[in-house]
Amino acid sequence: MSAGSQGAAGLVVEGLTAGYGREDIIRDLTFGPFLEGEVTMLVGPNAAGKSTLLRALAGLVRATGSVRLDGAELTGLAPAKRARHASFMPQDLPGRVDLTALESVLSALMVTPDRSDDASVIRERALAALERLGIAGHALEPLGRLSGGQRQLVGLAQVLAREPRLILLDEPTSALDLRYQVIVMRLLRALAAEGRIVVGVLHDLTLAARWSDRIVLLDDGAIVASGPPDQTFTVERLRAVYGVESRVERCSEGTLQVLVDDAGELG
Ligand SMILES: Nc1ncnc2c1ncn2[C@@H]1O[C@H](COP(=O)(O)OP(=O)(O)OP(=O)(O)O)[C@@H](O)[C@H]1O
Ligand SMILES: [Mg+2]
Repeated sequence: MSAGSQGAAGLVVEGLTAGYGREDIIRDLTFGPFLEGEVTMLVGPNAAGKSTLLRALAGLVRATGSVRLDGAELTGLAPAKRARHASFMPQDLPGRVDLTALESVLSALMVTPDRSDDASVIRERALAALERLGIAGHALEPLGRLSGGQRQLVGLAQVLAREPRLILLDEPTSALDLRYQVIVMRLLRALAAEGRIVVGVLHDLTLAARWSDRIVLLDDGAIVASGPPDQTFTVERLRAVYGVESRVERCSEGTLQVLVDDAGELG
């Protein structure tokens, strides 16, 4: 599963600048190594550049700088090759509503065809991914007939089925109910424990604090803070970055909670 050359383990990013057209959105970001077994969540206000950073890691936007996975440079790799190492789930739910859940996972696997596998093996992999997310019962239903949350789970199954080293997930729990939020966060921990590197985006800071090893706080295309949740979330930083009055407290069981009491006026 390694990208296959000498160098530091994990994901290491240096001088990453990315954007659209002529406009740079994230500028000169350096971070890592993010190691296998670790779950990192990117947080920050709307338009901070979180999705752009994930897309840059996946090779889906114009970017300069270095993105190395286990010492191998990903920048410049052909998209199909890169997708073998890094799999990205976008913020938008899967769109081809005419495909069934199973077909949409199969089509995701076609992006990174593995010549050694025959069709039945690929189908088994797709079904196993749907099963792991508890939606195998909907495998033959068109996406257009699934609920928003069910479609998000299909999006996750697409990523899972590819079995990448680096998993990139943009707001993977945004459409999920309370139970499925926890099921998915627990799954991310399990995927990390299986030897993958997980990097995601979340808006729910309490959820991020509970399930992540590391938080990267982004604002206006730059990293404001990075580290363990309890060191990254401070009342002062949340005021400066989000413009909110908050409390960062531990509950009766010692888990970190971010409680927002008020927000500044618009403008
Ligand atoms: N395809 C695009 N073309 C041009 N500009 C874009 C494109 N996508 C995003 N942007 C711009 O890049 C900036 C960062 O957007 P991005 O989607 O990375 O933010 P984000 O942190 O993911 O926000 P959100 O929390 O709302 O998802 C915004 O100013 C946005 O307008
Ligand atoms: Mg986004």
